[in-house]
Amino acid sequence: MTEQRTPVTVLGTGSMGHALAEAFLAAGHPTTVWNRSPERAQALVAAGAVRPDDIGDAITASRLIIACQTSFAATRASLADAGEALRGRTLITLNSGTPTDAREFADWVTERGAAFLGGAIKNVPAAVGLPDTLLYFGGARSVFDEYADTLRVLGGDVVYLGAEPDLAALYEAAVGATLLPALLGFFEGAAVLTARGLDVRTMVPYTTKWFQMIESLLPLMAEEIATGDYTRLGSSVGVFHAGIGNDEQLGTESGVDMSWHAPMHELLRRAVAEGRGGQSITALFELLRN
Ligand SMILES: NC(=O)c1ccc[n+]([C@@H]2O[C@H](COP(=O)([O-])OP(=O)(O)OC[C@H]3O[C@@H](n4cnc5c(N)ncnc54)[C@H](OP(=O)(O)O)[C@@H]3O)[C@@H](O)[C@H]2O)c1
Repeated sequence: MTEQRTPVTVLGTGSMGHALAEAFLAAGHPTTVWNRSPERAQALVAAGAVRPDDIGDAITASRLIIACQTSFAATRASLADAGEALRGRTLITLNSGTPTDAREFADWVTERGAAFLGGAIKNVPAAVGLPDTLLYFGGARSVFDEYADTLRVLGGDVVYLGAEPDLAALYEAAVGATLLPALLGFFEGAAVLTARGLDVRTMVPYTTKWFQMIESLLPLMAEEIATGDYTRLGSSVGVFHAGIGNDEQLGTESGVDMSWHAPMHELLRRAVAEGRGGQSITALFELLRN
């Protein structure tokens, strides 16, 4: 006899929720789906999922509920019609949101007699189920242990962060903080190259190496922050400060809008004014913290 896989209900079948439900189906989990707009779950029904009209029925179909809607508020609004159905079940969220929202939502769920685990998936829908895909979770260890194997269907790198239910939201914000600045830097570089009539694709191998260099420096910079010893990196605030004029000149010459540099330049000027010119660039952490 084949072993029965844990039945799972996925709330929210947008881009990410659809990929999650697909992965559960592919791994042989009895999968129930519910979406505010039912037509968006239709393809999953064709692939073998069950889709009750009533969210209460979707909740009672499984002991494990995975919610992946736009926000905690969206999930709370959806569950408002679920009555007592949550009692005795486990709800795991994989949406984005602030740590405060995560804590409030965790309280709301536990008040309704359900266990809660707050999670985040650090990748795109196409990466769901791949061995390298990272998901992390905060909440009761016993809940994580009970469902860790099931969660590994969604990605091979499943991490427990600790007992507080908002830890995934907190790490999501902290780790995700690099995304927009890094992307803006890439777009700016693309604008500079294309302003000269060069193909942006020529830049990709060099930008990739650049990111690898940054990656290799993260442990040392974290060490500098943790110890407050800003002497080891070998790239000083002063060197970055001296480059401010180059950025401004390149912006003028290329016609590329570099106004997003202004607050970073201001930070560098303040750091130099505070006497940090000889410290490594990591010392900017001290200004952000203040
Ligand atoms: N896509 C990614 O690359 C990615 C990566 C990591 C994390 N995430 C996170 O995953 C979550 C879902 O993202 P997504 O890409 O799947 O977004 P999406 O394609 O826009 O889907 C949003 C989902 O939320 C539902 N929803 C929104 N407002 C609702 C409300 N008030 N009541 C009930 N349901 C509501 C939508 O239902 P309807 O279909 O009825 O509108 C849909 O199921 C987000 O928190 C996102 O930050 C996404």
